[in-house]
Amino acid sequence: MKTTSFVRSLPAFALAGAAALVLALPAPAAAPPAASTLDNLQAAYDGESNASAKYAAFAKKADEEGYGQVASLFRAAARAEQIHAANHAAVIKKLGGVPKNDVKAPEVKTTKENLQAAIAGESYERDKMYPEFLAKAKKDTNRDAIETFNFAKAAEAEHAKLYSESLAKLDSLKGTKAVTYYVCTVCGFTTTKLDFQKCPVCFNPKDKYTKVG
Ligand SMILES: [Fe+2]
Ligand SMILES: [Fe+2]
Repeated sequence: MKTTSFVRSLPAFALAGAAALVLALPAPAAAPPAASTLDNLQAAYDGESNASAKYAAFAKKADEEGYGQVASLFRAAARAEQIHAANHAAVIKKLGGVPKNDVKAPEVKTTKENLQAAIAGESYERDKMYPEFLAKAKKDTNRDAIETFNFAKAAEAEHAKLYSESLAKLDSLKGTKAVTYYVCTVCGFTTTKLDFQKCPVCFNPKDKYTKVG
């Protein structure tokens, strides 16, 4: 009798135990709130500010190692990233924000490794960061954010290409002197030849381009 009553009481006991366990479990973590376009602009502003400082340091190293042509490319890209940072900052201010960045001392290795790091950074921005920021800005129909993200994304794609070309023929670039690159002061597009009338990205006349070498 005693045993039967124990068995009968088991399900109730188990149920109570299970209920107690559920109550004791922490509530599922709430998903972090999606970043706003203003947050994304701040992240991009910080990223571009750091990229500019990094490339300036990489340029110095490339010169020390005798890769004059690669140093020119790093200087041109550093200038382009400054333009992106300034464009992002202008939109942040237009949205009522204060641009904030935290420029860290860049990690400088050999020019070969610096090129690899630069390609990784540009590829991330081209394939993940800017596409995500653009999707959100489009959802918000924030035209200014869409434009500044699009300008940067197009230039980063070209930087990745130019860096990859340099890396592929790095041995032949030893002992080269500085060369001229052209950077669009509106969108940051970077090129070796001004063989067009209008910037292929922002469509401003080519006199908006500045020489960097
Ligand atoms: Fe870039
Ligand atoms: Fe442009």
